[in-house]
Amino acid sequence: MKMNPDRRPLFAANWKMHNGPRSTREFLAEFTQLYEVAQDRRVVFFPPSISVEAFGLATAPRSDIGLGVQDVHADDAGAHTGAISATMALEAGASWSLVGHSERRNEFGDDDSMVARKTLQILASGLAPIVCVGESLKERDAGLLSEILRRQVAAVMCMVEPEHHGRLTWAYEPVWAIGTGRTASPEDASEAHDIVRASIAEHADELTATDTMVLYGGSVKPSNINSLMEVPGVNGVLVGGASLQPTDFAAICNASAV
Ligand code: PGA
Repeated sequence: MKMNPDRRPLFAANWKMHNGPRSTREFLAEFTQLYEVAQDRRVVFFPPSISVEAFGLATAPRSDIGLGVQDVHADDAGAHTGAISATMALEAGASWSLVGHSERRNEFGDDDSMVARKTLQILASGLAPIVCVGESLKERDAGLLSEILRRQVAAVMCMVEPEHHGRLTWAYEPVWAIGTGRTASPEDASEAHDIVRASIAEHADELTATDTMVLYGGSVKPSNINSLMEVPGVNGVLVGGASLQPTDFAAICNASAV
């Protein structure tokens, strides 16, 4: 089984609908002063697709800073007004794609089967997917944490060829922690990451599950990055709000606990 060859901690910035080409350049001019090349970690940005090319040009001298898109269409081309394909993202300089972010699931109706189809398209294009999973507060309060995570993981694992299971990176993002300032406690993150890994193992094997990168996302800030990175099974973070300030995101990327 082909495994993810690079297991260095991953610090990912999800800019959502922020930063056009000009503010992307301004952000990077500042961020690259504050975050220096570090061999023991990886940093990847997910700007809006309209800023991908500007991002790639601005980071050309910094091959350590990765680039991805926030979403792609489940088809490779066609009459889909407003959409972009994984192949186009690759052509524009991206190496990664998010898929199944809770805002895509809730706002745009991406259900489990759509998330699986998009993941297949991302893998086929050669991009690396980060598949986002996570429960809502209502689901958590109803005791459905495990059921929801297992269902979301299974939907993707069942569709992806076993030889590609090792190419998947996951992000556990509890919906109640996204943009709310309320971060999962280290215990909550640990429990959820264990469930995600156990679900991966059910569809692949223990070795694949152990080697798979699982990120945490949801109100990650400079003040909680170290306690989150210390949680066994947390291999990195996916950061929204705090990735919009160069100083905050640089402080996160410079975390001592890797
Ligand atoms: P947040 O967003 O850091 O603003 O909570 C995280 C995410 O949605 O990926």
